[in-house]
Amino acid sequence: MKHLIDPTDLTKQETDQIIALGEDIIANREKYRDSLRYHKLATLFYEPSTRTRLSFTSAMMELGGNVLGFSDAKNTSVSKGETVEDTVRVVGNFVDVIAMRHPLEGAPYIASTVSKVPIINAGDGSHAHPTQTLTDLLTIKRELGHIDGITIGFCGDLKFGRTVHSLIKALSRYNGVKVILIAPDELRLPDYIKSDVCDKQGVDYREVHTIEEVMGELDVLYMTRVQQERFLDLEEFERVKDSFVLDSEKMALAKEKMAVLHPLPRVNEIKPEVDDDPRAAYFRQVENGKFVRMALMYSLLKWKDDPCHVMPEHPEYFEDATLVCRNPKCICNHENIKHLFHETESGVRCAYCDSKVK
Ligand code: NCD
Repeated sequence: MKHLIDPTDLTKQETDQIIALGEDIIANREKYRDSLRYHKLATLFYEPSTRTRLSFTSAMMELGGNVLGFSDAKNTSVSKGETVEDTVRVVGNFVDVIAMRHPLEGAPYIASTVSKVPIINAGDGSHAHPTQTLTDLLTIKRELGHIDGITIGFCGDLKFGRTVHSLIKALSRYNGVKVILIAPDELRLPDYIKSDVCDKQGVDYREVHTIEEVMGELDVLYMTRVQQERFLDLEEFERVKDSFVLDSEKMALAKEKMAVLHPLPRVNEIKPEVDDDPRAAYFRQVENGKFVRMALMYSLLKWKDDPCHVMPEHPEYFEDATLVCRNPKCICNHENIKHLFHETESGVRCAYCDSKVK
């Protein structure tokens, strides 16, 4: 069985297969209309969401299946103290697949270790957001015709933006992708992505401070919102919140064929005047999100008993009583679970949230 917790839980081949299936669904919607009839999806959303939850819901409905779940854990047994593991053990009896969003990093991973149905991570803290990644890859493919060889600028909150972390991981498996990181010092990409993903996979990347200096090079500009809810220091948020604003003047510096992506919601970082520019792809991206989630659920359910599609094992994870994960938003500091770590290029890290412990 396959879960999707991190984008690399899918092989590159499986990823491309899902993107191709997304394209086929777009071209032949009728063909898939009833393909998951009698199947059920649970959306367990412990954190706010509009697009992701509704797009999962709409995707399952369009495949002929049904959806149940919650969008606010306050009304569930979670408020009585139920663990993520127990909730998933219970819900797995009612549905065929579960999409989970959680503010604690590693929560969907823990869920996957006990679940009898596929778990899809719909966003865990600042850590990962693999279905947004599939959405982004499909959008790049549809807008530009290819993913290999693109130059992509990531702009805004590269520190807390989980969509950025997951997309860089996925893009590191394509050929000749160049990454330009556009962020203020306070919001730079976490070191573990630079060392353990970019350096390790030989991704050509550089860091700059303005959009203007690189705009003309980009095939894709990936704008992001500054993630207010993840800041521990609100003064710091106030200082950086309006660091980058995309407007028509900056768009005038861009190539004629390029695409502006944004996982949405936007706050101030893209002026509404950009919306009418044919290169503004962010609302098309939302629609792609539904198609790719149809492709994902269809594939995970089809692969369920296929030994060729299983989760990567992690024999490198180890326990060590002398190590502590200091991330207050890591699931290991909230539930009574084994503390696991792994050795990476850049030191020892928590297996659930990837924060550095040594
Ligand atoms: C993103 C998220 O939740 O991480 N939104 C989404 O899923 N489309 C981006 C964000 O909240 O800024």
